[in-house]
Amino acid sequence: MELFLAIRNVKILKNFCFSEKNLYFCPNIFPNFKKKMDIFQKIASKTTPLGQYQGIGDGYFLFPELKGEIAPWMFFRGKKMLTWSLNNYLGLANHPEIRKTDAEAAQKWGLAYPMGARMMSGQTEHHIELEKQLAKFVNKQRSYVLNYGYQGMVSIIDTLLDRNDVIVYDSESHACILDGLRLHIGKRFVFAHNQMDSLQKQLEHAAKVVEKTKGGILVITEGAFGMAGDLGNLKDIAAFKEKYQFRLLVDDAHGFGVMGKTGAGTGEHFGVQEQVDLYFGTFAKAFAGIGAFVAGEKTIVDYLQYNMRSQIFAKSLPMPMVFGILKRLEVAQKYPELRTQLWSVVAALQNGLREKGFNLGKTQCPVTPVFLEGSPHQAANLLVDLRENYNIFCSMVVYPVVPKNVILLRLIPTAVHSLDDVKMTIDAFAEIQKNLISGKYNYEIKINPLEK
Ligand SMILES: Cc1ncc(COP(=O)(O)O)c(C=O)c1O
Repeated sequence: MELFLAIRNVKILKNFCFSEKNLYFCPNIFPNFKKKMDIFQKIASKTTPLGQYQGIGDGYFLFPELKGEIAPWMFFRGKKMLTWSLNNYLGLANHPEIRKTDAEAAQKWGLAYPMGARMMSGQTEHHIELEKQLAKFVNKQRSYVLNYGYQGMVSIIDTLLDRNDVIVYDSESHACILDGLRLHIGKRFVFAHNQMDSLQKQLEHAAKVVEKTKGGILVITEGAFGMAGDLGNLKDIAAFKEKYQFRLLVDDAHGFGVMGKTGAGTGEHFGVQEQVDLYFGTFAKAFAGIGAFVAGEKTIVDYLQYNMRSQIFAKSLPMPMVFGILKRLEVAQKYPELRTQLWSVVAALQNGLREKGFNLGKTQCPVTPVFLEGSPHQAANLLVDLRENYNIFCSMVVYPVVPKNVILLRLIPTAVHSLDDVKMTIDAFAEIQKNLISGKYNYEIKINPLEK
């Protein structure tokens, strides 16, 4: 079946699935479900924004499998493709010194050690050493390692605040921030993405609330926004601190290791790291690993250590990762040319695309969004064309993640991409843009991505 047909058939297939599942849960078979709704039955007939494509574009549009060494050129469904969708900014995933340390640490410690949560039996001197070095790198008194960034952020927010406190947050905050907010039982106010007049308005609301509750205000934003690449307006946000007396928490997942003179992040880039009260970075992007950390004043990080539920009740980061991150930190500092190389690839890619007239929004970091206009159907055909005929693999986002008729192609350059890779990509993008305008993606294309 050709792709456009598959997409057009989504609705029909969906109905078919429903009737199949409804039959399975038929009240005659399960009489107890007659009056009350069974949770599994409800789920069987529920459509979620991404779940509606389950079984149709699996392995191609969603859950694609890239094979081979982590590098700009990898294999997708047996075909070698230029890959722009790995968070490996500094190219550390396959750096020989890092691969050696990762392997030696796994050999020496295995993946199990240390067993248990940090507080119970998962503490080691190496975790503590990593925390010392991270704190020094991002210029804070103390840091604490988190077993996953996502859960860590949820718990940071949960731990810091009580019902009297108020959160003011950017409207485009990452899901881990939004999930942290869900645990907050006090008030919260959202400000329009990076809009300082909106922030001020919300700070006014927050100030009125805490006047009554005697609580405090926490402002949360990101350093570098991972989808569109624009930077959190940290300088202007920090400038409000004196008037509104809030604490600032910055999720710098995409800025850590990349932004600033030394790679210490977006706070360093703007010269306001001191005003960032809590700095959060993950190892999953520039450091090509797993885990994260939070850094700030010693007393506050001490408090977080003893109270973050996702850390107290979950296993400690395994030793090979701890050693691996120590090595990544060393390599990132020992070879600043990796950052220079990354930024030269970023400049070539972003300038080249802009010169061809592409709209890259407001990106100021390596994340390179290319905004096109078209329907999800055209987007699907375009992506297939890009992969099958131009051998380029990148991520794509369509409605409802972005507004209707917007196609967002997201490229993540790394220090190990070459200028030839960049040229090939710009040329291919110029052609797919022409194809899109000429209507080529309105109809069928002559490949079948869904059959292996
Ligand atoms: C802005 C932001 N915060 C937090 C996270 C979660 O980090 P981790 O992958 O370490 O759980 C991500 C990962 O995608 C992210 O982009």
